Amino acid sequence: MKLLVNSLDEMEEFAHEISKLLFKGAVIILNGELGAGKTSFTKFLGEALNVKDYITSPTFSIINIYEGDFTVYHMDFYRLENLDGLYDLGLDDYFYSDGISVVEWGELAEDFLPLDRIELYFSKTSENAREIDVKILGKEENYKAFEMLY
Ligand SMILES: Nc1ncnc2c1ncn2[C@@H]1O[C@H](COP(=O)(O)OP(=O)(O)OP(=O)(O)O)[C@@H](O)[C@H]1O
Ligand SMILES: [Mg+2]
Repeated sequence: MKLLVNSLDEMEEFAHEISKLLFKGAVIILNGELGAGKTSFTKFLGEALNVKDYITSPTFSIINIYEGDFTVYHMDFYRLENLDGLYDLGLDDYFYSDGISVVEWGELAEDFLPLDRIELYFSKTSENAREIDVKILGKEENYKAFEMLY
């Protein structure tokens, strides 16, 4: 299902909508080209979840951890040199936790992702507009709430 977001403000509203649907252990994968808005979305989501820290791109650290209404695990796979590094990170400890995982460039290491997840694919349609393709891959009951976005 595709949604259109016409501005940064509308992206913020979208992130707030998503935040209301989250539950312990929810996994959100963010895909889409450089500058598509993955980090911007994550910042807005963090604000909606009352994360007080300033969320920055975890490009070099692979993972940043924040505390808000949930613990937020913000990952970015873009700079991964090889997938071996992911084994060392023990990603499942984050994915199967009481926190929320948000993964930029998750498509680069799809085999490491839980089968139950939401995928948002961002495409830049103009300077400030973004198309968002929402896919619910979660068979788990909790993910059904996201169907209201359709
Ligand atoms: N509607 C919008 N939604 C999201 N970002 C927008 C929007 N309109 C303009 N922008 C701008 O586009 C840029 C998106 O950059 P951002 O770092 O969020 O992208 P990214 O997908 O995380 O890129 P990367 O793959 O490099 O991590 C920001 O400068 C943001 O202000
Ligand atoms: Mg980013």
